[in-house]
Amino acid sequence: MKIARFLVTLCAVLHVAMGNKLAASYDLDEMTDEPLIGNYPSDESCVLDRDSESGCLCRHYLKEKFITCYDPDTCKRFPRIRFPTFTIRISTTAIKTLKANDLLNNTQLTMFKIEGNDQFSRIEPGAFNGMSKLVNLSITHNRNLVSLEKGAFDGLTNLHTIRLNKNGFLNLKTFTVSLNANSLPKLTHLIITQMPFANVNRDDFEDLVNTTITSLNLFTCRISYIHPESLTPFRNLKTLGLGENNLNTSNVIDVLKVIVQNKIPLDYLSLFNLGFKELPRNLLEVIGKTNITHLTLTKNKFEIIEQFPKMPKITRLDLNEVLALNIVPNAFEFLPNLKNLYLSRNLFSEVPKGARLAQLKNLDISVLKYNGYSPSYFSLYDKAFVNMTNLSVMNLSGNNIRKLSKNVFIGLSNLTIMSLKNSYVFFIENSTFVPLRNLIYLDLSDNRFATRYFEKYLFTGLDKLEVLRLGHCSIGNLQLPQDIFENLRSLKHLGLENNDIKSLPSEIFAPLVNLEMLDLSNNNFNSWDFQLFPKNNKITEFYVSNNKIKNITKSMILDFNKLQMIELSKNPFGCYCSDLAALNEVIEQNKRVAGLLKQNHLNCSFPQEYANLTILEYLEHVNNTEQCVNVLVNNDYVLFIIMGCFLVMFVIIVMYLLRNYFYKCYIGCHKSRDFNKNNVHFEYDAFVSYSNEDHAFVDKLVKTLENNYPHYRLCVYQRDFQIGTLIMESISSSIQKSKKMLLIVSDAYIKSEWCLWEVQAAQKHYLQQNSLVIVKLGDVSKEKLNASLSLLMKTRIYLEWDYKDKKKESVFFRKLRDFLSEPVSIFTIDRNLQI
Ligand SMILES: *[C@@H]1O[C@H](CO)[C@@H](O)[C@H](O)[C@H]1NC(C)=O
Ligand SMILES: *[C@@H]1O[C@H](CO)[C@@H](O)[C@H](O)[C@H]1NC(C)=O
Ligand SMILES: *[C@@H]1O[C@H](CO)[C@@H](O)[C@H](O)[C@H]1NC(C)=O
Ligand SMILES: *[C@@H]1O[C@H](CO)[C@@H](O)[C@H](O)[C@H]1NC(C)=O
Ligand SMILES: *[C@@H]1O[C@H](CO)[C@@H](O)[C@H](O)[C@H]1NC(C)=O
Ligand SMILES: *[C@@H]1O[C@H](CO)[C@@H](O)[C@H](O)[C@H]1NC(C)=O
Ligand SMILES: *[C@@H]1O[C@H](CO)[C@@H](O)[C@H](O)[C@H]1NC(C)=O
Ligand SMILES: *[C@@H]1O[C@H](CO)[C@@H](O)[C@H](O)[C@H]1NC(C)=O
Ligand SMILES: *[C@@H]1O[C@H](CO)[C@@H](O)[C@H](O)[C@H]1NC(C)=O
Ligand SMILES: *[C@@H]1O[C@H](CO)[C@@H](O)[C@H](O)[C@H]1NC(C)=O
Ligand SMILES: *[C@@H]1O[C@H](CO)[C@@H](O)[C@H](O)[C@H]1NC(C)=O
Ligand SMILES: *[C@@H]1O[C@H](CO)[C@@H](O)[C@H](O)[C@H]1NC(C)=O
Repeated sequence: MKIARFLVTLCAVLHVAMGNKLAASYDLDEMTDEPLIGNYPSDESCVLDRDSESGCLCRHYLKEKFITCYDPDTCKRFPRIRFPTFTIRISTTAIKTLKANDLLNNTQLTMFKIEGNDQFSRIEPGAFNGMSKLVNLSITHNRNLVSLEKGAFDGLTNLHTIRLNKNGFLNLKTFTVSLNANSLPKLTHLIITQMPFANVNRDDFEDLVNTTITSLNLFTCRISYIHPESLTPFRNLKTLGLGENNLNTSNVIDVLKVIVQNKIPLDYLSLFNLGFKELPRNLLEVIGKTNITHLTLTKNKFEIIEQFPKMPKITRLDLNEVLALNIVPNAFEFLPNLKNLYLSRNLFSEVPKGARLAQLKNLDISVLKYNGYSPSYFSLYDKAFVNMTNLSVMNLSGNNIRKLSKNVFIGLSNLTIMSLKNSYVFFIENSTFVPLRNLIYLDLSDNRFATRYFEKYLFTGLDKLEVLRLGHCSIGNLQLPQDIFENLRSLKHLGLENNDIKSLPSEIFAPLVNLEMLDLSNNNFNSWDFQLFPKNNKITEFYVSNNKIKNITKSMILDFNKLQMIELSKNPFGCYCSDLAALNEVIEQNKRVAGLLKQNHLNCSFPQEYANLTILEYLEHVNNTEQCVNVLVNNDYVLFIIMGCFLVMFVIIVMYLLRNYFYKCYIGCHKSRDFNKNNVHFEYDAFVSYSNEDHAFVDKLVKTLENNYPHYRLCVYQRDFQIGTLIMESISSSIQKSKKMLLIVSDAYIKSEWCLWEVQAAQKHYLQQNSLVIVKLGDVSKEKLNASLSLLMKTRIYLEWDYKDKKKESVFFRKLRDFLSEPVSIFTIDRNLQI
């Protein structure tokens, strides 16, 4: 909830700052391929039930009005939905047909998903009759759905987005007839990805005349040729995604020429991961002559970003993850209107001179980090940004910056948003932020500050700062000076969550007169005896869950009295009447605070006998039974204390006698923990992605690696996937739990839909070069490889398994073990090494 709030604030700020779609930095490349996992509600407030008529098992998430139905064996027709709902997801069922009146009782639906149903093959015309509220429709991963007939989508008069990924369609013509403008008069977004289409023929979209579609995404479709005339029915097309296909530049040029001739208002083109190894100069020249303003070249491989040709209309350029080490100084000289430059996930060691453009409003040069890997040093030179007076948003997160000195940010007088999250910053010089007089949002979370250097002057100059994030910064015991926040008069949101604050300093928040929200959750402090918010009259939200608060004092109640929302759960409240006396009074006098507290489930942590009561229930309980008076004078209690003292003395004596032993153990444990650092988050050493037809080889592989020393634990789906979980969810979560990934690439593998989906998933999780190893099994026909796999085979080390040559077997396994034992690190570029 609070993260959502933060994001809302951020978005509002971004909106003010940019007035455009900045927040969706990867909208065409990744965001539109909606994640199959994640994004589902938590299991709280979920009802599981089996619909006896249809045989489907449905999970109803009542609060979110979301229902997901499954069961590959018994769920044979559309289930009866018993709860009002906005989203229905039909996944891994045995449903064959969506019949004419199946959805009759669900006309209030806004989102409908049909995903991963192996037998699903038909949508009857009329199935969507009356579904005028439906906005999003997603029909994906149904391998037997080979066509959609005309009229299939009749009734969807307000459908906005349709997603048709990874179904059984062999070409576009088999289903585009269903998408005509009469059936779908409001359709704007068409997403067709991960299909084996090879060609887009001239008449493939001919049924879409007069279509209202403005955004067409055809990424990862193994397209090697697009007929230039084929896109002419899209008269309103503004956005075109062609990423991850096997297109050559001359073909894309031809397509663009026809788009220009037909006055199609295209302004956003995504060419991500088309395998470019250098700038496609001819193509860029043609783009420079169109009205395209936003170009994506993400995930191509440029290494050095050379000079772009003349492209006067470009305002936004995405060059994320292009393995760039540097940018030539005049790279963007001929892009006079470039305002938004995205350079995240590259290999820079500074903000390259070529990117320090006076006209930029938005610069993203962040790095994604995980697995504790630290990238090499990233220099922020003094006055590097001196000419960037128009810059409004800068993201430097994830870079190994370490120190911020006071001359770094000079010139950034119009910067409103800056992220230095997770940037290894430990030292910030006095007055570093002084030049940032318009900064509104500063994210310093996830750094390991040496707080002893923090001074009153740290945040001077940030007169307009509204959001400051200092979460996950190992701030212990607020070794912050009392006056550290003194200058932050405009601050509205302060995040100090996930630190190690053990006691709250009394005056520290008082100067924040405009504070609206304070997050102190996941720290280590007990209750407080002074008012935290004496002068803060605007505070409404306060997060203190997961601390060590044992009682609620009068001062706390005075603080709470200002709030509209408090999160206090997961604190070890003691339910002793004496401690809760103040609270008991409040419950009677202050209904508002009582109401706030009631919204939290504040359980009694002790004594044991009240463990299943909340503190409010406890108060009621003692009031009724009038036990409170004699709790403390109980004889047993005294006896208990005396016995406790004896016990403590005994333990001390034993420890003294065994001190040498304990000392050794301490050293030993310490070592082994450090040693394991690399493995600590992973359940498996590697996830094995393979086609079922190669199971014999995989059996052998697993036996050899798991049964011999050193033992490796592999994730293999028949064995390790929990029965009953949805396959796609399982795969993704297993990939996350595995340190590395093994792709067993064979002819069968290339043909398997699941496997290719896994490759896709792998690419997202294993950016690191040495986390992915490819085992080539037998002869693999290169021409059938899809774009991502083909690129992987070209750029990664791969091992070959030869069925015939037994002698090579031990060499193979030795190399494989070498690979698996290597630590994970990002950014080692290997150049076409083959074994
Ligand atoms: C629609 O609801 C009615 C009444 O609850 C029920 O009898 C009928 O079977 C439902 N139809 C479908 C297709 O679920
Ligand atoms: C439809 O999908 C879009 C993009 O995925 C999302 O932003 C929007 O909230 C969805 N709308 C509904 C009503 O589900
Ligand atoms: C497309 O629109 C034009 C003009 O509005 C109309 O004459 C024509 O019949 C439409 N075509 C189809 C196939 O609906
Ligand atoms: C590009 O692809 C088309 C169709 O596949 C082919 O005819 C043409 O020769 C290719 N051009 C280049 C430069 O490779
Ligand atoms: C660009 O847009 C303008 C104004 O909308 C239009 O007149 C022009 O023909 C367009 N140019 C191209 C190359 O599409
Ligand atoms: C900075 O922004 C202002 C106002 O938008 C504009 O007039 C000026 O030309 C910009 N400066 C540069 C160097 O682009
Ligand atoms: C800033 O601009 C001035 C004048 O154009 C130039 O001399 C100087 O090198 C620039 N500084 C940086 C750090 O780019
Ligand atoms: C940036 O700040 C300067 C003053 O420091 C101001 O003159 C200029 O107009 C600002 N540019 C924008 C785009 O606000
Ligand atoms: C910061 O400034 C104050 C006063 O100007 C000075 O006393 C202090 O030593 C400075 N601290 C650091 C770390 O430079
Ligand atoms: C409640 O907590 C405060 C602060 O930790 C402590 O001083 C006080 O003694 C506690 N009250 C009782 C009744 O234990
Ligand atoms: C928990 O509550 C129930 C009834 O509310 C009570 O019967 C039971 O004894 C309680 N358990 C404990 C451990 O206090
Ligand atoms: C406790 O008892 C008193 C009188 O016996 C009553 O006025 C008060 O409302 C009770 N408090 C609660 C929390 O039940």
